[in-house]
Amino acid sequence: MKKLSIGSIQKRKGTQPLVMITAYDALFARLFNESADILLVGDSLNMSFGGNPDTLSATMDQMIYHTNAVCKGAPATFVITDMPFGTYSSHTAALENAIRVYRETPADAVKIEGGSDKAHLVHHLTSNGIAVCGHIGLLPQAFRAEGGYKVKGKSEEEALSLIADAQAIEKAGAFILVIEGVKADVATRVAQSVSIPVIGIGAGNGVDGQVLVFSDMLGLYEPFVPKFVKQYVNGAAAVKEAVKAYADEVQNRSFPDENYIY
Ligand code: KIV
Repeated sequence: MKKLSIGSIQKRKGTQPLVMITAYDALFARLFNESADILLVGDSLNMSFGGNPDTLSATMDQMIYHTNAVCKGAPATFVITDMPFGTYSSHTAALENAIRVYRETPADAVKIEGGSDKAHLVHHLTSNGIAVCGHIGLLPQAFRAEGGYKVKGKSEEEALSLIADAQAIEKAGAFILVIEGVKADVATRVAQSVSIPVIGIGAGNGVDGQVLVFSDMLGLYEPFVPKFVKQYVNGAAAVKEAVKAYADEVQNRSFPDENYIY
């Protein structure tokens, strides 16, 4: 299998939907490899793997550690690394931290959250040789500032502002854009307003591809299941059942039997 190039990712707009999924380690990246076009090392790992209530305490060191693990598990898959909260608050910080991603991992691109207000940062990165994925709409890194996760695109004013965000991020040089938590008809208009692929999460079916957090779609993350998440398997139940069976067999000494001894 050959890794997709940025050019081939962009040619998928309006043709074949792009499949993006988060991955945080080599174990799962190896399993996702066959079906995913793009793996996103999302700062959502700070919640499902780190046990934190939001993404805001994720660090650059964490992202670099997990990106390296993902790239080892899926060396032929295009990998995007999320820039965590506070790591792109100025041109200097954004570039230094994005350069760390390129120097210390084989990741192909970085993702930063924000619309027109962050376009100058996207431009600074892209003009310095960093491939950037934008992220507009519901911004998980604004969780504390906005007092929760707020669905966007509920008024015509918000719709026009999202379209302006997407166009500013495209103009700044981003090669792809994630749109999260946006009314489906508005996300469709956003996708139609730019020539780069727009990947939706909680943004309906009129976009150029989908991304889901893997621990959500595998039913492994129990604390909170957003409305847009389809659980393709009840992973939590399967894991609990398997560990319970193991515990029972250890307790009653039926494991290990003669098949599992030297
Ligand atoms: O951190 C993440 O997993 C993300 C997705 C929700 C797109 O940014």
